[in-house]
Amino acid sequence: MEIEELKNVLKNKLSEKRFFHSICVMEMCEKLAKHYNVNIEEARLLGLAHDIAKEMPSDEKLKYAKDNNIPVCIVERYSPTLLHAKIGADICKKDFGFSDKMCRAISLHTTGGENMDLLSKILFIADGIGLDRTYENVDYIRDLAFKDLDESILYMLNLTIKECLERNSPIHTDTILARNWLLMNK
Ligand SMILES: [Fe+2]
Ligand SMILES: [Fe+2]
Repeated sequence: MEIEELKNVLKNKLSEKRFFHSICVMEMCEKLAKHYNVNIEEARLLGLAHDIAKEMPSDEKLKYAKDNNIPVCIVERYSPTLLHAKIGADICKKDFGFSDKMCRAISLHTTGGENMDLLSKILFIADGIGLDRTYENVDYIRDLAFKDLDESILYMLNLTIKECLERNSPIHTDTILARNWLLMNK
């Protein structure tokens, strides 16, 4: 799958805003891949494709997961939007022939997870620090991502967990596992 070909697929699948986000994540993945010496083409494809399933309606997400034997945990059943990561990985494998390593990165891009490899870490953080992101402290994390990738991911995981606590919403177990794994491997 070539970048231009994938762009055309995504333009038809995503809203203008989400497409722009995908381009921003692709660009950030490229910068990080250069910095950390990771395959640039793979990183760009991941950035572009990562949210391919994001705009699928919730009931369709649950149906897709059921039809394609994707396990759904209780938190994902409660918040089916989280499933866009696993479904996106499945689509990228079946439709575009992405490697298992690339699919794992897509699968973990929202929650994080244990034993993330460099490519997974890059996609995870690029999703949160693309140039379309404007939240408080984004400049700090953008900077940190190039200095200490693991610290930047921990920061992002802590933000996610704090948000869940403030909203009194469930926390995905992979987010906890990712945080524990990073903290204990420092
Ligand atoms: Fe996403
Ligand atoms: Fe995203």
